[in-house]
Amino acid sequence: MKSKVTVVGAGNVGATTAQRIFEKGHSDVVLIDVVEGIPQGKALDILESGPIVKSDATIIGSNSYEESKDSDIVVITAGVARKPGMSRDDLLITNMNIVGSVTESVILHSKNPIIIVVSNPLDAMVQHCYEKSSLPKERVVGMAGILDTGRFRTFLSSELNVSVNNIDAYVLGGHGDSMVPLLKATTVGGVPVEDLIEKDRLEQIVQRTRDGGAEIVSYLKTGSAYYAPSAAVAQMVDAIVFDTKEIFPCAAMLDGEYGISGVYAGVPVKLGSNGIEEIINLDLSKEEKEGLDKSSKAVEELIQIMKDQA
Ligand code: NAI
Ligand code: 2OP
Repeated sequence: MKSKVTVVGAGNVGATTAQRIFEKGHSDVVLIDVVEGIPQGKALDILESGPIVKSDATIIGSNSYEESKDSDIVVITAGVARKPGMSRDDLLITNMNIVGSVTESVILHSKNPIIIVVSNPLDAMVQHCYEKSSLPKERVVGMAGILDTGRFRTFLSSELNVSVNNIDAYVLGGHGDSMVPLLKATTVGGVPVEDLIEKDRLEQIVQRTRDGGAEIVSYLKTGSAYYAPSAAVAQMVDAIVFDTKEIFPCAAMLDGEYGISGVYAGVPVKLGSNGIEEIINLDLSKEEKEGLDKSSKAVEELIQIMKDQA
């Protein structure tokens, strides 16, 4: 039997995510948006690609959550995206209200879904969704680390002219300026990257990774990245649907892991049919641990702003 995946928000990330999931054929997809006609039109367009891409999945678009009833997985991409000059944090209050109301609607129709949050600022939004949903922490996860790590691996691949497949890396921490690339754990064909790229150049690549989202915004001008983000969400959906138990960097609620409690942070997690099945404790260097602490403090500040607004 196919899984049921609902994607909320039929904009750039949501529609591309729905398309990627539909094309894999393993799940029936529901695409929801507040704008009348957009989810219906995009879903029909994607459905009509079925015979061409050889997918027998179904996809429907709707403005109502009735259609999302009993979803196994819900992806929340609803909200506003940033424009040039804006930071992810500038989206906080607008997207807090949107993600809060979307989460309430989702939970009214699906009792025990796994929710993947994408809306920005990611770490604060996944925290808000977790609190609103009352789901166990294992069932609410944020997408950012796979994207940030994907960018880092892409830049290293170009620098060294090596296949992306031979580059193992982790970017942890919050999805923002304080993200933490783990240099010691980054290897190219098993060789530590620090032995291959001199320090200053590596620092430039790390900075480009941190600015990766803004680099795309500066080109697009009217919105932010969606091809790589949707690929990252689809990879998480696959891991859950097929119970692969792969380890990916994702935003997870920490309960003492890495010495942090009660806040979402990007860490390596094992993803399977139960959502976050384990948080992997890596040995961090002193600087990396400080980076992760700084990153979670930045998320805590956003959480406080949300609390003050409530
Ligand atoms: P977009 O503007 O193309 O699409 C957003 C969609 O959400 C629109 O179609 C809008 O009508 C819909 N929407 C707004 N309020 C809604 C509500 N209450 N219920 C249902 N739908 C609603 O934006 P895009 O590019 O798709 O980005 C979506 C979000 O994802 C943004 O907040 C963006 O910053 C974030 N993002 C996060 C990434 C990450 O790594 N976590 C990567 C890329 C984007
Ligand atoms: C990105 O990093 C917008 O957060 C999104 O591209």
